[in-house]
Amino acid sequence: MTLKGKSAIITGGAGGIGMATAKMYLDEGVTGVLLIDLNEEALLEAKKTLNNDKVHVFTADVSKADQVKAYTDKAAELFGQLDIVFLNAGFEGEVKPLTEYPETIFDKVLSVNVKGVWLGMKYAFPYLQKSGGGSIIITSSVAGMKGTAQMVAYTASKHAVNGVMRVAALEGAPHQIRVNTIHPGPVDNRMMRSLEDGFAPGGGEQVKKGFEGMIPLGRYASNEDIANLATFLADEKSKYITGATYLIDGGFTI
Ligand SMILES: NC(=O)c1ccc[n+]([C@@H]2O[C@H](COP(=O)([O-])OP(=O)(O)OC[C@H]3O[C@@H](n4cnc5c(N)ncnc54)[C@H](O)[C@@H]3O)[C@@H](O)[C@H]2O)c1
Repeated sequence: MTLKGKSAIITGGAGGIGMATAKMYLDEGVTGVLLIDLNEEALLEAKKTLNNDKVHVFTADVSKADQVKAYTDKAAELFGQLDIVFLNAGFEGEVKPLTEYPETIFDKVLSVNVKGVWLGMKYAFPYLQKSGGGSIIITSSVAGMKGTAQMVAYTASKHAVNGVMRVAALEGAPHQIRVNTIHPGPVDNRMMRSLEDGFAPGGGEQVKKGFEGMIPLGRYASNEDIANLATFLADEKSKYITGATYLIDGGFTI
């Protein structure tokens, strides 16, 4: 694979999957990558860790239209063109029965995980058209394929982006803009630590063992496992793939 001559935006770029993907995109030769995240401190840390002058960072809330427009314009200004957009920022919300789920958290989860993806495409589409096409990859989840008790907002949001993706794949196809979703099972990073603790405060290790017992391949994904798929979908090798949903869960949903 090669991403030579291509530029990329990665939202949630300071997080586990985002940063591992940035590293892989750099290894495959991107001309530049703009990492977007709400967490400014983590972004600066990511830039330091990646230690590459092709890495740029931009602090933004993906659920706010003016900030999404600003980061997209910035990427076009930095790189002259836009080719790959990895809409990966996500918020897990809380682990609570639906009768107790807080309305404010529900709204926030939907706003980040669904509106953030739509806005990302709203502002990237014109630039991708100018480039003669491109690839948009959206991080959904196994929660976009099946239900999980006590995760009503997250599950709703990850199902919803599948629909957003299908509309975007249809509207993008005449312009050679491909749009796909990826659906990780549990990934060994911050988000799963937060969810494990949500399911059993103070007993996260046991929850992890329980999940691992339900994964035929016997382990959580690494951030790099997911980055491999996000790299394939960014590359020309996947040029006939659009509108697709990619499970990457070690067999969890079989
Ligand atoms: N970790 C898992 O087990 C898992 C499984 C399936 C899907 N996912 C999805 O993968 C994606 C990446 O998450 P991750 O696993 O790397 O976890 P993570 O928590 O390490 O990364 C998520 C990043 O998104 C950022 N973010 C949150 N709200 C934002 C906002 N409003 N604006 C900008 N940035 C924001 C966070 O600051 C964080 O850096 C998410 O969409 C998540 O839902 C994760």
